Amino acid sequence: MTFKPKVLRFESLPSTNTELARLASEGGAEGLAVVADEQTAGRGRLQRAWSSPKGAGLYFSILLRPAIPTEDWPLITFMAALAVGDALREATGLQTDIKWPNDLLANERKICGILAEAIETPVGRAVILGIGINLTQNAFPPELSDVATSVSEATGQKPERETILAALLPALSRWYALLNEPEKIVAAWCSRSSYANGKLVQVSNGDEVWQGTTCGVEHDGALRLGTANGEIKLVRAGDVYKVRPSS
Ligand code: BTN
Repeated sequence: MTFKPKVLRFESLPSTNTELARLASEGGAEGLAVVADEQTAGRGRLQRAWSSPKGAGLYFSILLRPAIPTEDWPLITFMAALAVGDALREATGLQTDIKWPNDLLANERKICGILAEAIETPVGRAVILGIGINLTQNAFPPELSDVATSVSEATGQKPERETILAALLPALSRWYALLNEPEKIVAAWCSRSSYANGKLVQVSNGDEVWQGTTCGVEHDGALRLGTANGEIKLVRAGDVYKVRPSS
């Protein structure tokens, strides 16, 4: 599977995902992408807001029409996390970790979030793949200050948005081509995530909280959690938090 990227640039949008969904509903081609200098209503997973100050991040969405079974669609965010990891390493030298399902971390803080939304379009089902990379923020809103970081904070360099985008597009194309071989995506994801195996975590889905040790990922991307009573719980939605050992 391949796509030919065509990038539309905007000064300000409510959300690049929302704008691209509108273009997709008008028949936009696979590979159509939208970048904005700022988002006034940037969206994250689980109905959260995504802070998107002007010029401080890469706010990017791309339209994909993957010809893979629907059960494998969760792997689209996995391949995106792999691509962002490659792009950040190539463009800035930064090594990142991946926290299930799709947060990229630097120094244990979130540097990138990924939001994939499935939509119906006149020419079939599609995915709006949204990627937000914190580039130059050095101050975050109080609720994020302990958990977020940026490329400039992590590297001490001032990254250029276009340099990162220029590395991201071919990286996405490379990993997208591998979606037909889901086991390769899962294996690569596991090799790059310190959360894939042996991590003591708490998982919350909004209603329930579980604690356990991670023990791999299913073929469809579900996280395997070994609980204290010896069961393996499969996690398909929610937030994962590292549990710090008590002293
Ligand atoms: C998350 O970690 O919760 C996902 C954040 C995704 C943010 C990006 S920024 C570009 C695109 N447009 C949006 O409104 N959201 C995604």
